[in-house]
Amino acid sequence: MPLNIAILVSGRGSNLKAILEAIREKQLDASVKVVISNKPDVAALKIAADYGVEAKVIPSAGLQRTEHEKLVYDSLSKLSIDYLVLAGYMRIITPFLLSKFRDERGFIRIVNIHPSLLPAFPGANAYEEAFNYGVKVSGITIHLVDEEVDRGPILAQEAFERLPEDTLESFTKRGLAIEHRLYPKVLQQLAEQKVPVYAQAGETP
Ligand code: GAR
Repeated sequence: MPLNIAILVSGRGSNLKAILEAIREKQLDASVKVVISNKPDVAALKIAADYGVEAKVIPSAGLQRTEHEKLVYDSLSKLSIDYLVLAGYMRIITPFLLSKFRDERGFIRIVNIHPSLLPAFPGANAYEEAFNYGVKVSGITIHLVDEEVDRGPILAQEAFERLPEDTLESFTKRGLAIEHRLYPKVLQQLAEQKVPVYAQAGETP
């Protein structure tokens, strides 16, 4: 049985594309039931359409976080979603949506990708902040989601070096290449249920 996922996006959609491509190439046994963007007219919506996946805009502008999440959940509740996948979704998840994707054992079913070695550089501009800080090594983190921004049990991390000749652009490009490889791989591990139980339960090892 493929993993049923819904993907939340806010912008460019390059991780969305990597996931859809991995499914097409049969490297990821998942079915994307819906893509939801909180912003209209973003490139991610065109990518979803190109791959024949249903996509919806549920604008967050002007709404309270929970109000917006209730609308999102209304679109998800009948789809038997196994995991909610955040792919460049630049919103904090509130306890409302968390409660809908946390089962009675405490297993969290919301996954996020973040372009730093968390807990370093959470937030919206991690590549830039890590680069400007002068890190020698940065990386990509994939984690389950809790109430805080870019926090929760870590499923995978992959480091990369900042090279002396790097610009922010080349540094970001190297990181993104890792993101696009790592996210489908970790989702496949979830599909195969090869995820450490402590991580699913939201506990520290
Ligand atoms: C990606 O670099 C992702 O890791 C990052 O936003 C970018 C979205 O790009 N996410 C965060 O910073 C989460 N705090 P994409 O829309 O092309 O996938």
